[in-house]
Amino acid sequence: MKVDLLIKNAQIVSARDTVAGCIAVKDGKIAAIADSPEGFEAARVIDAGGKPVLPGGIDVHVHFRDPGLTYKEDFSTGSMAAAAGGITTVYDMPNVQPPTLNVENFQIKKKIAEEKSYVNYGIYAYLVNNLDQIDALIEAGVCGFKWDLSTFDWELPEGYYLPDNNEAADIFKKIAAHDYVVTVHAEDMELVKNYTEHLKESGRDPKDFFSHVEARPDIVEVSALYRTFVLSEVSGCRVHITHLTSKRGLELIKEFQHKGTPVTSDVGPAWFTFCAEDYEKFGGGIRVIPAIRYEKDREALWNGLANGDIEVLATDHAPHSNDEKFNRSWWDTLPGTIGVQTSLPIMLDHVNKGEVTLNRVVECMAEKPAQIFNIFPRKGQIAVGADADLVVVDMDKEWTVTHEEMYSKTKYTPYDGFKLKGKPVMTIVMGEVVMEDGKIVGKPGVGRMVNPRKDW
Ligand code: NCD
Ligand code: ZN
Repeated sequence: MKVDLLIKNAQIVSARDTVAGCIAVKDGKIAAIADSPEGFEAARVIDAGGKPVLPGGIDVHVHFRDPGLTYKEDFSTGSMAAAAGGITTVYDMPNVQPPTLNVENFQIKKKIAEEKSYVNYGIYAYLVNNLDQIDALIEAGVCGFKWDLSTFDWELPEGYYLPDNNEAADIFKKIAAHDYVVTVHAEDMELVKNYTEHLKESGRDPKDFFSHVEARPDIVEVSALYRTFVLSEVSGCRVHITHLTSKRGLELIKEFQHKGTPVTSDVGPAWFTFCAEDYEKFGGGIRVIPAIRYEKDREALWNGLANGDIEVLATDHAPHSNDEKFNRSWWDTLPGTIGVQTSLPIMLDHVNKGEVTLNRVVECMAEKPAQIFNIFPRKGQIAVGADADLVVVDMDKEWTVTHEEMYSKTKYTPYDGFKLKGKPVMTIVMGEVVMEDGKIVGKPGVGRMVNPRKDW
Protein backbone atom coordinates (compact mmCIF):
# COMPACT_ATOMS: atom_id res chain seq x y z
CA MET A 1 0.00 0.00 0.00
CA LYS A 2 1.38 3.42 -1.01
CA VAL A 3 0.98 5.98 1.76
CA ASP A 4 2.22 9.45 2.67
CA LEU A 5 3.34 8.67 6.19
CA LEU A 6 3.98 5.56 8.23
CA ILE A 7 4.44 5.66 12.00
CA LYS A 8 6.00 2.40 13.10
CA ASN A 9 6.85 0.96 16.54
CA ALA A 10 3.97 2.83 18.12
CA GLN A 11 1.95 2.05 21.22
CA ILE A 12 -1.47 3.06 19.92
CA VAL A 13 -3.53 4.39 22.79
CA SER A 14 -7.31 4.57 22.92
CA ALA A 15 -9.73 5.28 25.74
CA ARG A 16 -9.93 1.53 26.34
CA ASP A 17 -6.62 -0.08 25.47
CA THR A 18 -3.04 0.25 24.27
CA VAL A 19 -1.89 -1.86 21.33
CA ALA A 20 1.50 -2.07 19.61
CA GLY A 21 1.39 -1.34 15.89
CA CYS A 22 1.86 0.95 12.90
CA ILE A 23 -0.31 3.80 11.65
CA ALA A 24 -0.41 4.52 7.92
CA VAL A 25 -1.58 7.95 6.75
CA LYS A 26 -2.80 8.93 3.31
CA ASP A 27 -4.42 12.19 2.19
CA GLY A 28 -4.67 13.44 5.76
CA LYS A 29 -6.54 10.38 6.99
CA ILE A 30 -5.62 7.15 8.73
CA ALA A 31 -5.50 4.65 5.88
CA ALA A 32 -4.49 1.55 7.82
CA ILE A 33 -3.48 0.24 11.22
CA ALA A 34 -1.22 -2.79 11.08
CA ASP A 35 0.93 -5.03 13.26
CA SER A 36 4.02 -4.58 11.12
CA PRO A 37 5.38 -2.03 8.63
CA GLU A 38 5.65 -4.70 5.95
CA GLY A 39 3.71 -4.06 2.78
CA PHE A 40 3.70 -0.27 3.08
CA GLU A 41 5.52 2.06 0.76
CA ALA A 42 5.67 5.38 2.58
CA ALA A 43 6.97 8.80 1.52
CA ARG A 44 8.04 9.33 5.14
CA VAL A 45 8.57 6.79 7.89
CA ILE A 46 8.61 7.84 11.53
CA ASP A 47 9.95 5.41 14.07
CA ALA A 48 8.05 6.07 17.31
CA GLY A 49 10.55 3.84 19.12
CA GLY A 50 7.87 2.21 21.26
CA LYS A 51 6.47 5.53 22.45
CA PRO A 52 2.73 6.02 22.94
CA VAL A 53 0.82 7.63 20.08
CA LEU A 54 -2.45 9.28 21.08
CA PRO A 55 -5.28 10.83 19.13
CA GLY A 56 -4.52 14.57 19.06
CA GLY A 57 -5.95 16.57 21.92
CA ILE A 58 -9.23 18.46 21.47
CA ASP A 59 -9.49 21.54 23.67
CA VAL A 60 -13.05 22.86 23.56
CA HIS A 61 -12.28 26.13 25.35
CA VAL A 62 -9.58 28.54 24.17
CA HIS A 63 -9.40 32.28 23.57
CA PHE A 64 -7.08 33.11 20.68
CA ARG A 65 -8.21 36.78 20.75
CA ASP A 66 -8.31 37.14 16.98
CA PRO A 67 -9.65 39.48 15.62
CA GLY A 68 -9.40 42.61 17.65
CA LEU A 69 -7.41 41.69 20.75
CA THR A 70 -4.26 40.44 19.04
CA TYR A 71 -1.91 42.22 21.43
CA LYS A 72 -2.81 39.35 23.82
CA GLU A 73 -2.69 36.44 21.35
CA ASP A 74 -3.51 35.71 17.73
CA PHE A 75 -4.52 32.59 15.82
CA SER A 76 -0.93 31.94 14.83
CA THR A 77 0.65 32.12 18.30
CA GLY A 78 -2.29 30.45 20.01
CA SER A 79 -2.35 27.54 17.57
CA MET A 80 1.45 27.13 17.77
CA ALA A 81 1.05 26.83 21.54
CA ALA A 82 -1.64 24.19 20.96
CA ALA A 83 0.54 22.22 18.52
CA ALA A 84 3.49 22.38 20.91
CA GLY A 85 1.25 20.93 23.62
CA GLY A 86 -0.13 18.05 21.53
CA ILE A 87 -3.51 19.69 20.95
CA THR A 88 -4.67 19.27 17.35
CA THR A 89 -8.14 20.83 17.55
CA VAL A 90 -9.23 23.93 19.46
CA TYR A 91 -12.65 25.48 19.96
CA ASP A 92 -12.25 29.24 20.00
CA MET A 93 -14.47 31.46 22.10
CA PRO A 94 -16.56 34.33 20.73
CA ASN A 95 -15.39 37.21 22.98
CA VAL A 96 -13.27 38.89 20.29
CA GLN A 97 -13.72 42.19 18.49
CA PRO A 98 -16.08 42.14 16.70
CA PRO A 99 -17.74 39.41 18.82
CA THR A 100 -18.87 36.23 17.10
CA LEU A 101 -22.63 36.59 17.42
CA ASN A 102 -23.76 36.79 13.81
CA VAL A 103 -22.71 35.31 10.47
CA GLU A 104 -20.88 38.43 9.35
CA ASN A 105 -18.54 38.37 12.36
CA PHE A 106 -18.20 34.60 12.15
CA GLN A 107 -16.90 34.94 8.58
CA ILE A 108 -14.27 37.45 9.69
CA LYS A 109 -12.85 35.02 12.24
CA LYS A 110 -13.11 32.06 9.89
CA LYS A 111 -10.91 33.78 7.32
CA ILE A 112 -8.29 34.59 9.97
CA ALA A 113 -8.22 31.03 11.27
CA GLU A 114 -8.00 29.59 7.75
CA GLU A 115 -4.89 31.63 7.06
CA LYS A 116 -3.15 31.45 10.41
CA SER A 117 -4.00 28.22 12.20
CA TYR A 118 -1.52 25.39 12.75
CA VAL A 119 -4.24 23.18 14.20
CA ASN A 120 -7.90 22.41 13.46
CA TYR A 121 -10.38 24.84 14.91
CA GLY A 122 -14.02 25.12 15.80
CA ILE A 123 -15.55 28.57 16.02
CA TYR A 124 -18.15 29.22 18.71
CA ALA A 125 -20.92 31.76 18.42
CA TYR A 126 -22.38 33.59 21.39
CA LEU A 127 -25.85 32.66 22.54
CA VAL A 128 -27.40 36.11 23.01
CA ASN A 129 -30.67 37.52 21.67
CA ASN A 130 -29.75 36.09 18.26
CA LEU A 131 -32.54 33.56 17.65
CA ASP A 132 -32.84 34.84 14.08
CA GLN A 133 -29.15 34.01 13.45
CA ILE A 134 -28.98 30.46 14.84
CA ASP A 135 -29.89 28.57 11.63
CA ALA A 136 -27.57 30.74 9.56
CA LEU A 137 -24.70 30.37 12.04
CA ILE A 138 -25.05 26.57 11.93
CA GLU A 139 -25.24 26.70 8.15
CA ALA A 140 -22.07 28.84 8.10
CA GLY A 141 -20.22 26.30 10.27
CA VAL A 142 -20.10 27.20 13.97
CA CYS A 143 -19.03 24.38 16.30
CA GLY A 144 -21.34 25.31 19.13
CA PHE A 145 -22.87 28.13 21.16
CA LYS A 146 -21.55 29.87 24.26
CA TRP A 147 -24.07 30.84 26.94
CA ASP A 148 -21.74 33.12 28.83
CA LEU A 149 -23.53 34.14 31.99
CA SER A 150 -20.48 36.17 33.10
CA THR A 151 -21.16 38.69 30.32
CA PHE A 152 -22.77 42.02 31.13
CA ASP A 153 -25.02 43.48 28.45
CA TRP A 154 -22.86 46.61 28.26
CA GLU A 155 -19.98 44.40 27.04
CA LEU A 156 -22.02 43.40 23.96
CA PRO A 157 -22.57 45.52 20.84
CA GLU A 158 -25.59 47.81 20.87
CA GLY A 159 -28.87 45.96 20.53
CA TYR A 160 -27.52 42.70 21.93
CA TYR A 161 -28.22 41.39 25.41
CA LEU A 162 -28.35 38.15 27.39
CA PRO A 163 -31.92 36.87 26.99
CA ASP A 164 -34.25 36.10 29.89
CA ASN A 165 -35.40 32.54 30.52
CA ASN A 166 -38.34 32.60 28.09
CA GLU A 167 -36.34 34.05 25.22
CA ALA A 168 -33.38 31.79 26.04
CA ALA A 169 -35.66 28.72 26.04
CA ASP A 170 -36.68 29.44 22.44
CA ILE A 171 -33.03 29.71 21.41
CA PHE A 172 -32.12 26.53 23.30
CA LYS A 173 -34.99 24.75 21.48
CA LYS A 174 -33.69 25.89 18.12
CA ILE A 175 -30.18 24.68 18.99
CA ALA A 176 -31.58 21.36 20.26
CA ALA A 177 -33.37 20.83 16.96
CA HIS A 178 -29.94 20.72 15.30
CA ASP A 179 -28.54 18.49 18.09
CA TYR A 180 -25.92 21.13 18.88
CA VAL A 181 -24.70 21.64 22.39
CA VAL A 182 -24.78 24.85 24.45
CA THR A 183 -21.52 25.48 26.32
CA VAL A 184 -22.13 27.33 29.57
CA HIS A 185 -20.06 29.67 31.71
CA ALA A 186 -22.00 29.27 34.94
CA GLU A 187 -21.86 32.32 37.19
CA ASP A 188 -24.74 34.34 38.61
CA MET A 189 -23.52 37.89 38.01
CA GLU A 190 -26.20 39.53 40.15
CA LEU A 191 -24.67 37.79 43.14
CA VAL A 192 -21.09 38.46 41.99
CA LYS A 193 -21.81 42.16 41.59
CA ASN A 194 -23.22 42.41 45.07
CA TYR A 195 -20.42 40.43 46.77
CA THR A 196 -17.78 42.41 44.86
CA GLU A 197 -19.18 45.78 45.85
CA HIS A 198 -19.33 44.79 49.52
CA LEU A 199 -15.75 43.53 49.48
CA LYS A 200 -14.44 46.61 47.68
CA GLU A 201 -16.06 48.80 50.32
CA SER A 202 -14.78 46.70 53.22
CA GLY A 203 -11.42 48.50 53.20
CA ARG A 204 -9.41 45.39 52.56
CA ASP A 205 -6.06 45.55 50.69
CA PRO A 206 -6.85 45.77 46.94
CA LYS A 207 -3.90 43.39 46.41
CA ASP A 208 -5.47 40.69 48.55
CA PHE A 209 -6.43 38.26 45.78
CA PHE A 210 -8.11 35.96 48.25
CA SER A 211 -10.99 38.44 47.98
CA HIS A 212 -11.55 37.15 44.46
CA VAL A 213 -12.81 33.76 45.67
CA GLU A 214 -14.91 35.44 48.36
CA ALA A 215 -16.52 37.67 45.75
CA ARG A 216 -17.43 34.62 43.68
CA PRO A 217 -18.30 31.84 46.14
CA ASP A 218 -19.52 28.43 44.97
CA ILE A 219 -23.18 29.40 45.41
CA VAL A 220 -22.69 31.75 42.44
CA GLU A 221 -21.90 28.70 40.29
CA VAL A 222 -24.71 26.62 41.81
CA SER A 223 -27.26 29.35 41.05
CA ALA A 224 -26.23 29.58 37.40
CA LEU A 225 -26.15 25.79 37.05
CA TYR A 226 -29.72 25.56 38.32
CA ARG A 227 -30.85 28.16 35.80
CA THR A 228 -29.09 26.27 33.01
CA PHE A 229 -30.64 22.91 33.99
CA VAL A 230 -34.09 24.48 34.03
CA LEU A 231 -33.49 25.77 30.51
CA SER A 232 -32.19 22.39 29.41
CA GLU A 233 -35.31 20.72 30.79
CA VAL A 234 -37.81 23.09 29.18
CA SER A 235 -36.00 23.02 25.82
CA GLY A 236 -34.55 19.50 25.66
CA CYS A 237 -31.21 21.02 24.73
CA ARG A 238 -27.90 19.40 25.68
CA VAL A 239 -25.73 21.60 27.89
CA HIS A 240 -22.00 21.41 28.54
CA ILE A 241 -20.72 23.18 31.66
CA THR A 242 -17.28 24.55 30.94
CA HIS A 243 -14.63 25.23 33.61
CA LEU A 244 -16.57 23.68 36.47
CA THR A 245 -14.98 24.93 39.69
CA SER A 246 -16.77 23.63 42.77
CA LYS A 247 -17.51 20.43 44.66
CA ARG A 248 -21.12 21.58 45.10
CA GLY A 249 -21.38 22.26 41.38
CA LEU A 250 -20.20 18.74 40.59
CA GLU A 251 -22.66 17.24 43.07
CA LEU A 252 -25.48 19.17 41.45
CA ILE A 253 -24.47 18.03 37.97
CA LYS A 254 -24.46 14.40 39.15
CA GLU A 255 -27.90 14.85 40.68
CA PHE A 256 -29.34 16.24 37.44
CA GLN A 257 -27.57 13.62 35.33
CA HIS A 258 -29.31 10.94 37.42
CA LYS A 259 -32.63 12.63 36.65
CA GLY A 260 -31.82 12.46 32.95
CA THR A 261 -30.82 16.06 32.25
CA PRO A 262 -28.43 15.95 29.26
CA VAL A 263 -25.49 17.68 30.93
CA THR A 264 -21.72 17.15 30.65
CA SER A 265 -18.83 19.18 32.02
CA ASP A 266 -15.17 20.05 31.75
CA VAL A 267 -12.46 21.33 34.05
CA GLY A 268 -9.04 22.83 33.33
CA PRO A 269 -5.68 22.30 35.03
CA ALA A 270 -5.80 25.73 36.73
CA TRP A 271 -8.76 24.57 38.86
CA PHE A 272 -7.46 21.13 39.76
CA THR A 273 -3.86 22.25 40.35
CA PHE A 274 -4.19 25.42 42.40
CA CYS A 275 -6.35 26.41 45.35
CA ALA A 276 -7.09 29.45 47.51
CA GLU A 277 -3.78 29.37 49.40
CA ASP A 278 -2.00 29.97 46.10
CA TYR A 279 -3.44 33.48 45.63
CA GLU A 280 -0.78 34.75 48.00
CA LYS A 281 2.03 33.49 45.79
CA PHE A 282 0.55 34.05 42.34
CA GLY A 283 -1.76 37.04 42.88
CA GLY A 284 -3.31 38.14 39.58
CA GLY A 285 -1.47 35.32 37.78
CA ILE A 286 -4.18 32.87 38.84
CA ARG A 287 -7.13 35.26 38.84
CA VAL A 288 -9.48 33.35 36.57
CA ILE A 289 -13.26 33.20 36.38
CA PRO A 290 -15.02 31.32 37.81
CA ALA A 291 -12.61 31.48 40.76
CA ILE A 292 -10.05 28.90 41.80
CA ARG A 293 -11.47 27.72 45.13
CA TYR A 294 -10.58 25.68 48.18
CA GLU A 295 -8.67 22.44 48.60
CA LYS A 296 -11.91 20.43 48.96
CA ASP A 297 -13.02 21.76 45.57
CA ARG A 298 -9.65 21.15 43.94
CA GLU A 299 -9.69 17.58 45.21
CA ALA A 300 -13.27 16.94 44.03
CA LEU A 301 -12.44 18.34 40.59
CA TRP A 302 -9.32 16.22 40.21
CA ASN A 303 -11.11 13.06 41.36
CA GLY A 304 -14.06 13.89 39.09
CA LEU A 305 -11.79 14.27 36.10
CA ALA A 306 -9.77 11.15 36.87
CA ASN A 307 -12.84 8.95 37.39
CA GLY A 308 -14.93 10.37 34.54
CA ASP A 309 -17.64 12.20 36.53
CA ILE A 310 -16.27 15.27 34.77
CA GLU A 311 -16.13 13.99 31.22
CA VAL A 312 -13.72 16.45 29.59
CA LEU A 313 -10.51 18.39 30.19
CA ALA A 314 -10.51 21.84 28.57
CA THR A 315 -8.08 24.60 29.44
CA ASP A 316 -9.85 27.95 29.04
CA HIS A 317 -6.55 29.22 27.61
CA ALA A 318 -7.14 32.94 28.21
CA PRO A 319 -4.11 35.16 27.58
CA HIS A 320 -3.83 38.77 28.71
CA SER A 321 -0.91 41.18 28.66
CA ASN A 322 1.28 41.31 31.77
CA ASP A 323 0.00 44.82 32.36
CA GLU A 324 -3.55 43.47 32.52
CA LYS A 325 -2.54 40.65 34.89
CA PHE A 326 -0.25 42.35 37.34
CA ASN A 327 0.05 45.63 39.25
CA ARG A 328 -3.73 45.98 39.50
CA SER A 329 -6.30 45.51 42.25
CA TRP A 330 -7.94 42.09 42.47
CA TRP A 331 -11.11 43.38 40.83
CA ASP A 332 -9.34 45.21 37.96
CA THR A 333 -6.97 42.35 37.09
CA LEU A 334 -8.28 40.73 33.92
CA PRO A 335 -9.31 37.13 34.51
CA GLY A 336 -7.66 34.28 32.66
CA THR A 337 -4.39 32.43 32.27
CA ILE A 338 -2.75 30.51 29.45
CA GLY A 339 -2.79 26.72 29.38
CA VAL A 340 -3.18 25.10 25.96
CA GLN A 341 0.53 24.23 25.74
CA THR A 342 0.76 22.65 29.20
CA SER A 343 -2.49 20.69 29.66
CA LEU A 344 -1.37 17.39 28.09
CA PRO A 345 2.10 17.52 29.72
CA ILE A 346 0.46 18.08 33.13
CA MET A 347 -1.74 15.04 32.53
CA LEU A 348 1.23 12.92 31.39
CA ASP A 349 2.94 13.82 34.67
CA HIS A 350 -0.16 12.64 36.57
CA VAL A 351 0.00 9.39 34.57
CA ASN A 352 3.64 8.93 35.58
CA LYS A 353 2.66 9.48 39.21
CA GLY A 354 0.05 6.71 38.89
CA GLU A 355 -2.86 9.10 39.52
CA VAL A 356 -4.68 8.53 36.22
CA THR A 357 -4.28 6.18 33.27
CA LEU A 358 -3.10 7.23 29.83
CA ASN A 359 -6.33 5.72 28.48
CA ARG A 360 -8.40 8.05 30.65
CA VAL A 361 -6.27 10.98 29.39
CA VAL A 362 -7.16 10.01 25.82
CA GLU A 363 -10.78 9.74 26.83
CA CYS A 364 -11.05 13.17 28.51
CA MET A 365 -8.84 15.03 26.04
CA ALA A 366 -9.90 13.44 22.73
CA GLU A 367 -12.70 10.89 22.67
CA LYS A 368 -15.22 12.55 25.00
CA PRO A 369 -14.93 16.08 23.60
CA ALA A 370 -15.31 14.64 20.09
CA GLN A 371 -18.42 12.71 21.11
CA ILE A 372 -20.06 15.55 23.04
CA PHE A 373 -19.44 18.06 20.26
CA ASN A 374 -20.54 15.60 17.58
CA ILE A 375 -17.31 15.34 15.61
CA PHE A 376 -16.74 11.69 16.52
CA PRO A 377 -15.65 9.27 14.97
CA ARG A 378 -13.82 11.48 12.49
CA LYS A 379 -12.00 13.10 15.42
CA GLY A 380 -11.09 11.79 18.86
CA GLN A 381 -9.71 8.34 18.08
CA ILE A 382 -7.08 6.50 16.10
CA ALA A 383 -9.07 4.42 13.64
CA VAL A 384 -9.10 3.72 9.93
CA GLY A 385 -10.96 6.53 8.18
CA ALA A 386 -10.45 9.05 10.99
CA ASP A 387 -8.45 12.23 10.41
CA ALA A 388 -4.72 11.82 11.00
CA ASP A 389 -4.52 14.09 14.06
CA LEU A 390 -1.91 12.41 16.24
CA VAL A 391 0.51 13.10 19.03
CA VAL A 392 3.61 11.11 19.95
CA VAL A 393 4.49 11.40 23.62
CA ASP A 394 7.72 10.66 25.46
CA MET A 395 6.63 9.41 28.89
CA ASP A 396 10.21 9.42 30.22
CA LYS A 397 11.19 12.98 29.35
CA GLU A 398 11.85 15.06 32.46
CA TRP A 399 11.68 18.80 31.97
CA THR A 400 10.86 22.09 33.64
CA VAL A 401 8.12 24.42 32.41
CA THR A 402 9.34 27.97 31.74
CA HIS A 403 7.65 31.19 30.68
CA GLU A 404 10.10 31.46 27.75
CA GLU A 405 9.12 28.12 26.26
CA MET A 406 5.49 29.26 25.82
CA TYR A 407 4.50 30.03 22.24
CA SER A 408 1.71 32.21 23.53
CA LYS A 409 2.19 35.99 23.23
CA THR A 410 1.72 36.11 26.97
CA LYS A 411 5.01 34.96 28.43
CA TYR A 412 3.48 34.17 31.78
CA THR A 413 2.44 30.72 32.93
CA PRO A 414 1.66 29.86 36.56
CA TYR A 415 3.32 26.48 35.85
CA ASP A 416 6.73 28.15 35.40
CA GLY A 417 9.20 26.08 37.41
CA PHE A 418 6.98 22.98 37.50
CA LYS A 419 9.07 19.85 37.03
CA LEU A 420 7.14 17.43 34.84
CA LYS A 421 7.77 13.94 33.52
CA GLY A 422 6.26 13.29 30.10
CA LYS A 423 6.03 15.54 27.07
CA PRO A 424 4.54 15.53 23.58
CA VAL A 425 7.42 15.22 21.10
CA MET A 426 5.55 15.20 17.79
CA THR A 427 2.20 16.61 16.72
CA ILE A 428 0.55 15.68 13.43
CA VAL A 429 -2.44 17.62 12.08
CA MET A 430 -4.38 16.20 9.11
CA GLY A 431 -1.35 14.05 8.28
CA GLU A 432 1.16 16.93 8.41
CA VAL A 433 3.88 17.08 11.04
CA VAL A 434 3.49 20.49 12.72
CA MET A 435 5.62 20.02 15.85
CA GLU A 436 8.79 18.04 16.30
CA ASP A 437 10.83 18.03 19.52
CA GLY A 438 9.02 21.07 20.83
CA LYS A 439 9.63 23.14 17.68
CA ILE A 440 6.92 24.22 15.27
CA VAL A 441 7.84 22.83 11.86
CA GLY A 442 4.55 23.00 9.99
CA LYS A 443 3.00 25.82 8.05
CA PRO A 444 0.02 27.92 9.04
CA GLY A 445 -3.15 26.98 7.23
CA VAL A 446 -2.90 23.19 7.77
CA GLY A 447 -5.72 23.31 10.29
CA ARG A 448 -9.31 22.79 9.10
CA MET A 449 -12.51 24.13 10.51
CA VAL A 450 -14.55 21.48 12.33
CA ASN A 451 -18.21 21.32 13.28
CA PRO A 452 -20.94 18.70 13.67
CA ARG A 453 -22.02 19.15 10.04
CA LYS A 454 -18.93 17.21 8.95
CA ASP A 455 -18.83 18.82 5.50
CA TRP A 456 -15.24 19.87 6.16
C1 NCD B 1 -11.89 34.52 29.99
C2 NCD B 1 -11.27 35.55 29.07
O1 NCD B 1 -10.27 36.15 29.46
O2 NCD B 1 -11.72 35.70 27.95
N1 NCD B 1 -11.31 34.58 31.29
C3 NCD B 1 -11.42 33.67 32.29
O3 NCD B 1 -10.90 33.88 33.38
N2 NCD B 1 -12.08 32.56 32.13
C4 NCD B 1 -13.34 34.73 30.00
C5 NCD B 1 -14.13 33.51 30.18
O4 NCD B 1 -13.78 32.42 29.74
O5 NCD B 1 -15.20 33.63 30.76
ZN1 ZN C 1 -13.06 31.20 28.65
